[in-house]
Amino acid sequence: MTRILITSALPYINGVKHLGNLAGSMLPGDVYARAMRLLGHEVLYICATDEHGTPAELAAQKAGVSVSEYCDQMHEAQKQAGADFKLSFDYFGRSSTQSNHELTQHLAHRLEQEGLIEERVSQQVYSIDDDRFLPDRYVEGTCPTCEYEKARGDQCDNCGRLLDPIDLIDPYSAVSGSRNVEVRDTNHLYLKQSLMADRLRSWIDAAEGWPNLAKSIAYKWLDEGLRDRSITRDLSWGIPVAYQGKVREGFENKVFYVWFDAPIAYMAATKDWAAETGNDWACWWRTDQGADDVSYVEFMGKDNVAFHTLSFPTTLIGSGEPWKLVDKLKAFNWVTWYGGKFSTSQNRGVFMDQALALAPSDYWRWHLIANAPEGSDAGFTFEDFQARINSDLANVLGNFINRITKYAGAKFEGKVPSGGEWGAPEDWIVAELSERLPKLIAYYEAMEFRKAAAETRAIWAAGNEYLTQAAPWTHYKTDVDAAAIGVRVGLNLAALFGILAQPIVPDAAEKILAALNIPQNNRTWGFGAENSDADWKVVVTAILDALPHGLAVVAPDVLFAKIEDADVEQWSARFGGAP
Ligand code: 2FM
Ligand code: ZN
Repeated sequence: MTRILITSALPYINGVKHLGNLAGSMLPGDVYARAMRLLGHEVLYICATDEHGTPAELAAQKAGVSVSEYCDQMHEAQKQAGADFKLSFDYFGRSSTQSNHELTQHLAHRLEQEGLIEERVSQQVYSIDDDRFLPDRYVEGTCPTCEYEKARGDQCDNCGRLLDPIDLIDPYSAVSGSRNVEVRDTNHLYLKQSLMADRLRSWIDAAEGWPNLAKSIAYKWLDEGLRDRSITRDLSWGIPVAYQGKVREGFENKVFYVWFDAPIAYMAATKDWAAETGNDWACWWRTDQGADDVSYVEFMGKDNVAFHTLSFPTTLIGSGEPWKLVDKLKAFNWVTWYGGKFSTSQNRGVFMDQALALAPSDYWRWHLIANAPEGSDAGFTFEDFQARINSDLANVLGNFINRITKYAGAKFEGKVPSGGEWGAPEDWIVAELSERLPKLIAYYEAMEFRKAAAETRAIWAAGNEYLTQAAPWTHYKTDVDAAAIGVRVGLNLAALFGILAQPIVPDAAEKILAALNIPQNNRTWGFGAENSDADWKVVVTAILDALPHGLAVVAPDVLFAKIEDADVEQWSARFGGAP
């Protein structure tokens, strides 16, 4: 048994997330957490809302409420959306808590003591009418290269040039549209990441179990020459720039940059979890207090990789304190919407809270995991969604469970029958599962989600093939015993399929396992954890006769209703499907 700490990138507070966000961090984190728990590991799965930064301030302004009120409401909404999607966080916290204030200020102080923080003067656009400094992407104006009139301060979307907002011609505030702006000097704290470049490179060289995507992004930044980053902003909402209760002089109207405090909230949320549940948090995060035994796994989209491989480790290593660093970093590409981007303003894409009005969470979970954006971006279309659900869930899994439980009800009084002789169909399914089960477990351990889903489906499909070979309905007419073995093995397969389905489609799994009367403590994957070197034929043979003979079983209610063409047409019209 290993202690596994799992974090998913913290969703920004400004709005319930779309399916692309879900697929690239929280959902795979959940599937992995569930699989590891089933394998008998002690898992702690932490997430939280990322509540600071300009977007939160602006969203609150738009909603006409104070930022803290806005964050309270949106935290609850996101927590609910996560619960509705069956995300099994051990704790879903908030980056705005007192513990994150304390920890962020503590770490900044330590970094300063270690000589890794420096105060520097920079120039920034100030909007007099908005009464605020404008973050780069909230300054717009005419591009000095191509004369496009709506270039953003960080980049021109027309010619692609990276910009400095003070280079824009006729700049204006994207917050209010006001042209009453000027360039002012402002002081900020800079994290001297450049001093850490060599240490970070050796740490990344030694890292194992990161996908290429994660390492290549980290190396790209290192190869370009790691630059120092400002870690404070001219904002009022956020964590004050204070050490030991005393605000730093000249920083009265500034706070830490949201990307400085957000990853620290992984630790602060663990602390909040520990305080609420009476647990210890340091044994998960401090290597001097037991965390050296922990396997720490982070899930995120590719845009988050630089922060998690360079800035956050700089904070942790640079503090000179024994903090736990990530062991495995699983990064994802994007899910695209009919080949384009998800867009709230253009009504393209489905958001977590809307999705569940269209189809049950299991459907989305299955499709997004089976089509996870691992090797490259993964396209979403309602047509693919329909095809995959109708085939994998309704035809392959649903049909199997339905056939075997109904037949047991009709011909064997709804009980697991005794009798019958082991024969060629049973040998075939044993051979099939002996090969597939260890592969499935290995895919989960390696966080290869597409492959895990494909292997799960192949196992379900093998069940249908077994029933075709065993053909109990044919044997029943002449030899009830010969039919009994097919039904018994079939029911045991149904139980196994429910047990294996739990990480990805937990609701359907629950229905199957309840219909088969499988007690909670018999639903784990003990066969995987304990038998990695086992003779899988022996293990599988035992699995296929695990249900007590005579156990009462029922057919579950319809597990998966098919998605109709009319649904797809209606959804596409409503959510901006194929152009
Ligand atoms: O990209 C995002 O959605 C960020 N809110 C992720 C933060 S992850 C962590 F560092 F907090
Ligand atoms: Zn341009």
